[in-house]
Amino acid sequence: LLDRSPIIAIDGPAGAGKSTVTRRVAAALGLLHLDTGAMYRAFTWLVLNSQVSLDDEARIAELVSQADLQLSLSDHPDVPVRVNLNGEDITQLIRTPLVTRKVSAIAAQKAVRQKLLEQQQQWGEKGGLVAEGRDIGTHVFPNAELKIFLTASVGERARRRQREMVTQNQETIDFEQLQKEIQERDVYDSNRSIAPMRKAPDAIELVTDGLTIEQVIEKIVQLYRVRFSS
Ligand code: DC
Repeated sequence: LLDRSPIIAIDGPAGAGKSTVTRRVAAALGLLHLDTGAMYRAFTWLVLNSQVSLDDEARIAELVSQADLQLSLSDHPDVPVRVNLNGEDITQLIRTPLVTRKVSAIAAQKAVRQKLLEQQQQWGEKGGLVAEGRDIGTHVFPNAELKIFLTASVGERARRRQREMVTQNQETIDFEQLQKEIQERDVYDSNRSIAPMRKAPDAIELVTDGLTIEQVIEKIVQLYRVRFSS
């Protein structure tokens, strides 16, 4: 018997469609959505705006220990989540190419991961959520009822990212460059020493090349219903 509502963990590399899929699976099942990547992005933005060097782990630990990070539901389909840091709305500012390039270096630091892990586990205490990230099934919610590892080929992920940048009116990046950056981030995120990106042994791997977003959502919703129908 569960002492909390169910948790779905969705992990996987950048650009596999996690964000849209997670938001829409949550909506379909009446669960909350937790975007943990947004939290690492928020701390990256904080460091970049504090004139602290990205490798000054002691100063960064101090910065994040004093930070007040709040996430709230987005009212716009293209915005995964609203992010407020120390009273400032930084929802748009965490999605810039600069933050994207620097986030892996911040997400590898012990103090950063420790603080966010605690906050994530607190929010998940009562369950009833779909959480997306890199280490949800392995570290944040290792006892999640359903774990999905969402992937796609690098080429497919770069194409999707590029389309997303166009629809969000962001500064666009050359396709080759984008592929290179996605690959670099994968390597960095899967090889850091603390909580690297990894498929949990009990996660179901979904390769989304050639699938529509709707097909992926449908598949996850079905897996959830099967698991909770008995
Ligand atoms: O999903 P995203 O692109 O917004 O994530 C941004 C970065 O944050 C990603 O490159 C690695 C890091 N991250 C992490 O280390 N652990 C998580 N649970 C989520 C994100």
